[in-house]
Amino acid sequence: MHNDVLDSLTDYPFDRLRALLGDMTPPEGWAPIHMQIGEPKHPAPGFIAPLLTRDMSEWGRYPPPNGLADLREAIADWLTARYDLPAGMVDPTRHIAIVAGTREALFMAALLAVPGAKNGTRPAVLMPNPFYQVYVGATALAGGEAVYVPAGPETRFQPDLAAVADSDLNRTALAYLNTPANPQGSVASLAQLKAAVSLARERDFVLAVDECYSEIYTGDKPPGLFDACRELGGADPFQNTLVFHSLSKRSNMPGLRSGFVAGDSELIRRLLRLRQYGGAQVPLPIMNASAALWRDEAHVMASRDLYRQKFDLALDMLDGAFGATRPGGGFYLWLDVGDSETAAKRLWAEAGLRVLPGAYLARDNDNGTNPGAAYIRLALVHDLDTTREAMNRLLNTLGIQGRTA
Ligand SMILES: Cc1ncc(COP(=O)(O)O)c(C=O)c1O
Repeated sequence: MHNDVLDSLTDYPFDRLRALLGDMTPPEGWAPIHMQIGEPKHPAPGFIAPLLTRDMSEWGRYPPPNGLADLREAIADWLTARYDLPAGMVDPTRHIAIVAGTREALFMAALLAVPGAKNGTRPAVLMPNPFYQVYVGATALAGGEAVYVPAGPETRFQPDLAAVADSDLNRTALAYLNTPANPQGSVASLAQLKAAVSLARERDFVLAVDECYSEIYTGDKPPGLFDACRELGGADPFQNTLVFHSLSKRSNMPGLRSGFVAGDSELIRRLLRLRQYGGAQVPLPIMNASAALWRDEAHVMASRDLYRQKFDLALDMLDGAFGATRPGGGFYLWLDVGDSETAAKRLWAEAGLRVLPGAYLARDNDNGTNPGAAYIRLALVHDLDTTREAMNRLLNTLGIQGRTA
């Protein structure tokens, strides 16, 4: 016996890519460039190493499930400064949960929010299409039904929740939003975020906003859920909402496994309860280091600057090829190459460039088309020289006249 819901899921995108590429290898002498995964390669700030080794005895203690007060305070201060919140709006004791990276917390959001039935029917979970794959796995395993909301060029790559059928909204238990979005880099406007919060309250569902790319941008600072909550105000300004933030992308430390969830105090209380049973607590030295990271913006600005240089270079070289434009946030190029699997195979076999087919990040919309099928995703996580080399390989292999450099 086993849980057959797990078998109903597609393989994870990186496994599908491995299967697609099989035993193909890059041409002799071509060093592979891995751009399929969003794993930041910029250096982590130097002040972290001593903090991780400062008090070795802390590795011998179970960490408190609700996290260290100092870390929660650092996060509350960060949120207050980042979203221009009135002092005291975020209460570090009630509005914040420390999590071991946001992947697990996004998964748990479905366990938290999806009831057995809503208004007499199977609960729906709204998610953008394309989307971060954890949303669909969490939905299925929590017993919900995924409702894919198109997030292609026709809606500027963010889902239009107002367009969801009334019958689906009526049974919606949870909606995931992702801004800046993986893979498209699109940013939800403040008006969209406010409308989403209002809809969540009106229809009584949980709005989970995944903002792990919020600090990676090359133009204007992206608005976030807490901007919307600040503007909407009210007695309980975070009601029905949760936001997910991570040090993985912001501080170039995906291996640290450190993030937080903030929002509705009742949902946070329930999340902590759920984590008591099934969550991995963040080790004490990692919590100490995390507090220092949330208190430092210098390394975040330096990293942002590096991404800016890489987007400047890549976009100049692409010169509009594959519909390349500067994303509102995040570090991905989302390129329209016509057939994502064919392009991924050719780029690997002919040029040693590993990219992710957009088809693996999306599901068919109601009209039977997969909105990611024409795109490939490239993570601009390497240094400037590697980025230049990757763009040259891309342009040469797919035979497009960009500006090779
Ligand atoms: C959209 C999105 N959300 C969440 C995550 C999870 O990040 P972490 O668990 O490292 O915080 C990722 C990681 O790639 C992501 O792309």
